[in-house]
Amino acid sequence: MASSCFLLLSLMLTPTLVCGEDLARLAATSSLHQRVKREWIWNKMHISEEFNGTLPYHVGKITSSNKNSNAKYLLEGDSAGTLFKVDEFTGDVFAYERLDREKKAEYHLRALILDRRTNQPLEPPSMFSIAVHDINDNAPIFVHRVFNGSVLEMSPVGTSVTKVTAVDADDPTLQGHTSVFYKVIHGERYFSIDNDGNILTAAPDLDREKRASYEIVVEAIDGQGLKSKESGTVTVLIALTDINDNSPTFTRDLFSFEVPENIPLSGEVGRVEVKDIDEPQNRNTKYSFVRGNHQSTFQIIANPYTNEGIVKPKKPLDFETTPLYQFTIEATDTDINPAYSRLKGSKSLASLTIRVIDVDEPPVFKPPTYTFEVKEESDINKSIGFVSAYDPDQAKRPIRYSILRTNYFKMTNTGHIFANYKLDREEHAWHNITVIANELEKGQIVPRLETHAQVYIKVLDINDNAPEFAQPYEPRVCENAAAGQVVISISAVDKDETPPNVKFTYSLVSEHSNFTLIDNHDNTANVTVKNGLFNRELVKVHYLPIVIHDNGAPRQSSTNTLTIQVCKCNENGEPTFCEGAAKQVGVSIQALVAIFVCILTILVIVLLIILRKRYKSKPNVLRKNVAEIHEQLVAYDEEGGGEMDTTSYDVSVLNSVRQRGMTSPPLTLEPRPCLYSQVQKPPATGLSSPQEMAMVIEMKKDEANNDGDLLPYDTLHIYGYEGAESVAESLSSLGSGSSDSDADCDFLNGWGPRFKMLAELYGLESQEDLGY
Ligand SMILES: *[C@@H]1O[C@H](CO)[C@@H](O)[C@H](O)[C@H]1NC(C)=O
Ligand SMILES: *[C@@H]1O[C@H](CO)[C@@H](O)[C@H](O)[C@H]1NC(C)=O
Ligand SMILES: *[C@@H]1O[C@H](CO)[C@@H](O)[C@H](O)[C@H]1NC(C)=O
Repeated sequence: MASSCFLLLSLMLTPTLVCGEDLARLAATSSLHQRVKREWIWNKMHISEEFNGTLPYHVGKITSSNKNSNAKYLLEGDSAGTLFKVDEFTGDVFAYERLDREKKAEYHLRALILDRRTNQPLEPPSMFSIAVHDINDNAPIFVHRVFNGSVLEMSPVGTSVTKVTAVDADDPTLQGHTSVFYKVIHGERYFSIDNDGNILTAAPDLDREKRASYEIVVEAIDGQGLKSKESGTVTVLIALTDINDNSPTFTRDLFSFEVPENIPLSGEVGRVEVKDIDEPQNRNTKYSFVRGNHQSTFQIIANPYTNEGIVKPKKPLDFETTPLYQFTIEATDTDINPAYSRLKGSKSLASLTIRVIDVDEPPVFKPPTYTFEVKEESDINKSIGFVSAYDPDQAKRPIRYSILRTNYFKMTNTGHIFANYKLDREEHAWHNITVIANELEKGQIVPRLETHAQVYIKVLDINDNAPEFAQPYEPRVCENAAAGQVVISISAVDKDETPPNVKFTYSLVSEHSNFTLIDNHDNTANVTVKNGLFNRELVKVHYLPIVIHDNGAPRQSSTNTLTIQVCKCNENGEPTFCEGAAKQVGVSIQALVAIFVCILTILVIVLLIILRKRYKSKPNVLRKNVAEIHEQLVAYDEEGGGEMDTTSYDVSVLNSVRQRGMTSPPLTLEPRPCLYSQVQKPPATGLSSPQEMAMVIEMKKDEANNDGDLLPYDTLHIYGYEGAESVAESLSSLGSGSSDSDADCDFLNGWGPRFKMLAELYGLESQEDLGY
C-alpha cells in the first residue's frame, strides 16, 4: 500500500513540476494512468463579499485523495493564517473576516499536506484561489468634484456642452452592477443629460447677455437604483460663449460739436459713442450717413478699440460758406448674424450737429500760383502781371503784397509786379519768386496772417545777340598751299535761343582777299585759299574779317576776324614752323613782365613795411649788453605786470581788471593831469625843475597818443595798472615808446641814478641812433 502510494506520489510529482492543467491534460490523454489521477480536488473557491452571517465563514474544503491518517493540512499565501485558516485535520477553509471585492477580488493560496510526524510533504503543494463574489454594493462616483463646460450662446437644443463621468467600483462583468444612469436635478430647464453623461442644451434661447453662466447639478444612479452616495451629486459649471448677436446703439440721440473752421483734415471734430452689449471682440460698429449728403465733408471712422465713431473733416471747413452742419448718422454691426439682427433690431440712429467757428484766417491767393511771360529787354514801367489775394473772413481786410528776397522785381499794392531792371534772358531765363500777401488792419500788417504764393516769370527771348565763332579758331596755312585748299571750316553760335531752323550766313568783309569763303548751307562755312603761294617774308599773318548773320528778327550780325598764320610746311603739307605764333608769345611775355613787376613792387612794399615794423618795435633795451638786459628784466619783474611782453600778455584782461577792481578814479584814454601831479619826483638838480618834468611827461604822453604804429593800447593804461604810487619809479614802458623821437633829453642825466635808465633811453641812445 505504502509502495503503491509512493508510486502515485511520484507519478504526481512530475506533472506538478509543470502545472496543474498540464497534469490534467496528461492524465486525460494517458489512458494508462487514468486510474491513478489524483489531485487536489479543488482549485477555486468562492465567497460572497459583504457576507453578513456569523464568522468564521466556511469557504470550502481542501482534500487530497491521499488518505494518510497522519496527514496534516496547511495554508500559505495571501492572508493565510489571518484571514483564511484551515482545519488541520479536515481541510476545511474558513474566512475569519468580511471580504470586500472592491478591495481584493481574489486571494491566491497554496495548500500543503504534510506528514504530521515527520513534517515531510506527503504530496507536492498545490495552488488554489479564493474568489470574492461581487454584490452590487457600490454606487457610481464622479471622476471630478466639479465639471466645467461651455457652449455658444443661442445654440440650438441638443448641442453638446460637456461630458460628465461617474464610475462604479462593482464587478463590471455582472449584469447591472456597474451601469450608471445620469439625471439633471438642478437646471434641467436649460440643460439635459444623456445616458453617456453628455450634457446637452435644453433651451433654444440661452442668451449670454441675459445670463452668462449656469451652475447645474447632476446625479448618477447605478442600475440597481443605488444613488451615488460618496460623491453625492456633482456640480457642472457651464459658461456661455459670446457670439455677435447684438447691434450697437448710440448712447445719445443728439451729438453736437463745435469746431474751428481751420481744423486740419487729420483733426478730430468729435466722437460719437455707442453701446454694444456683446463682448469687445464681437463689437464691429460701422457708421454711415443717413440723411443730408455731408459724407463728402465728413467721415466717421470707428475706433477699433473703443468702438466709438471719430468724426473727421474730409475737406477744409469754411465758416463763411457753411457755418452749421446737421445730419443723421447710423450705427450698424455688419458682422452680426442676420437671424439675430432681425430679432433684436440692427441699427441705431443719432443726429449730429456740427457748428463751425469763425477763425481769423490768412489771405487766400486765387489762383494759388502764377506764371507770367515777359520779353527780355522790355520796358520796366510795364507790369509783368498781377496776383490777387483776398481775406476769406467776414472782415474782408485789405491786402498788402510784397516779394520775398529778390532785387529784380517790385510790387504795387494792387498786386502788379514790375521789374527793377531790364531782364536778360541770357542771364536768367526764369525768375521764380515768392509773393506774400498780408492783411492790413488800420494800415498795419496783421501779424501771422500771411500767405505765400509762387510766381514763375519766364523771360521770353528776343534776338538781341549776334552770332559769333563757335570757338577761337587758330587756322594755319602752308606758304606753298595750292589754290582751293581748305584752310578751316568754321561754325557759329548764338547766345539767343536758337530754334531748329536757325540759319547762319557767312560773308567776307572784303572780296579783296587772298582767301575765299564758301558757305556750306549747314550753318558752317569753309575758308579756302584763293590764289595760293604765300610769301612768308612779306606777310606772316593774314587777318580775315568774316561777317556772320543770323536769321532772327531783328537780324543780328557780327564781324569776327580769323587770324591765319602762314607756316613753313614739310612735304606732307604739315606746318613745321609758324612764325606768326611769336606775336602771341610776345603778348604773353608782356603780360608776364607786367605781373612780375607787380609782384616785385608788392614784395618791396611788404619788405619795407616789415623792416620799419621791426625797427620800431624792437626796443632799445635789446641793443644793450646782457647785463643791462638782466637789470631791465629785474626791474620789470618788480612791477609784476611784465607789460613789455605784449605777445603773451593779454592787456585787455588787465584793463578789465583795473576797471572793475580799482577804487581809485578809473583811467580813461584821455590824459588825466591830476594823476601826474601826484608823481613823486626826485630832488631837482641843475636845470631840471618840476615844470620841466611835467613837460617831458606831457611830451611823452603826446607821443604815445599820436603814434599809430604802437599796439592798440597806450602807455597810460600800463601806468594805470601799476597804480598811482609806482608811477614815478617804473617808467619802463618808455622803452616801448617810439624811438624816432628827436627830443633832446640830455637833462635826464642830471636827475641821478634813479633816472639813469630814462637818460640812457632818451639821451645817450639817441646819440647812438645817429651813428647807427
Ligand atoms: C473647472 O473650473 C474650475 C475653476 O475655473 C477649476 O478650478 C476646476 O479645476 C475645473 N474643473 C475641471 C474638471 O476642469
Ligand atoms: C522755375 O520754374 C520753372 C517752371 O516750374 C522751371 O522750369 C524752372 O526750372 C524754374 N527755375 C528755377 C531757377 O528754379
Ligand atoms: C595777298 O597776299 C600778298 C602777300 O602774300 C599780299 O601782298 C596781298 O596784298 C594780298 N592780297 C590781298 C587782297 O590782301
